[in-house]
Amino acid sequence: METTTSVMTVHYDEKPIYDIGFYSDFSHLLGHCEALNIKGRNICIVSDSHVAEHYLSEVTAILEKLSPKVISFVFEAGEEQKSLDTVRRLYEHLILEHFERRDILVALGGGVVGDLTGYTAATYLRGIDFIQIPTSLLAQVDSSIGGKTGVDFDSYKNMVGAFHQPKLVYINISTLKTLSTRQFLSGMGEVVKYGVIIDAPFYHWIEEHKEQIIALENAVIKEMIYRSCDNKRRVVEQDPKEQGMRALLNFGHTLGHAIEKLTHFQYLHGECVGVGSILAARISYNKGLITKETLTSLEELISFFSCPYISGYEVDEVLETVRSDKKMSEGQIKFILLDEIGHAYISREVCNEDMKTVLEEYQHA
Ligand code: GLY
Repeated sequence: METTTSVMTVHYDEKPIYDIGFYSDFSHLLGHCEALNIKGRNICIVSDSHVAEHYLSEVTAILEKLSPKVISFVFEAGEEQKSLDTVRRLYEHLILEHFERRDILVALGGGVVGDLTGYTAATYLRGIDFIQIPTSLLAQVDSSIGGKTGVDFDSYKNMVGAFHQPKLVYINISTLKTLSTRQFLSGMGEVVKYGVIIDAPFYHWIEEHKEQIIALENAVIKEMIYRSCDNKRRVVEQDPKEQGMRALLNFGHTLGHAIEKLTHFQYLHGECVGVGSILAARISYNKGLITKETLTSLEELISFFSCPYISGYEVDEVLETVRSDKKMSEGQIKFILLDEIGHAYISREVCNEDMKTVLEEYQHA
């Protein structure tokens, strides 16, 4: 990583809160944990069945150098496990293992593992420490940073949650090698999002490096992840609790979440956000905010990273689902629109008709 350092620090009110480490292996994990004063505290590593198979024993062996007791809790991989029932089983495990307030959870996995572990850490004994070791692209560039934690409730996505900041985010980019191509590509929607909403130079950099990104070229991937995290850091430092600009990160999510729910989570979150981003850009175009060239460039870039065509839902159901989403304020939808690449804003002027038009266009394309 020539142009970047290996550690970035997230500050709130100018106080350093936690580090994000960028590495190609786990060899710096012990040093980071020593600096956190973890020695002697019990540790529970939470992971899912896919990730545990690859990395649980290596991470356990490292943490055993610090702690007298390192246990694990592994649940079946999949969005349907991101539920209060899995949290309940994890509480039970921690209680039976006598975990106290000074003990610590480690989230080893993608977004589901990170969000669920963070939520458990936020609520167990009124809050214990946790560390994020994100292993998917989506978790590395987005969900592990900024302290949003939570689970789905019935099919309402992230409906129950809390803000709870991790003590460390440790990114080992070589874990991306064990991701399926589909999983990797689904994280690209969130990467492109940073360029689209707040960082035009990054957007153009992604366009120029798209072939190297697909080929997983190490230096390019490192720079891409670093620049994504730096964007996320800037946003959450300014607006930790989503009272303003953090909502920009929801670009593509209003319609994306509704489609994700209505297709019963058979498409990945990032895939649905990709479709939602195209639809949000089309609404921006229909309102005369962006040019045809900008719309085409964005559609081409998102499609390059294999955003699938998603069908199997009714337009009216999408509109109904959007109304029940939490991205509403005083009964109005907070919709993220673009007025140029690198500049998004919160609009309260997107109506059912605007969404219906682009959904119908998309379905009949
Ligand atoms: N993933 C959106 C946020 O952290 O606000």
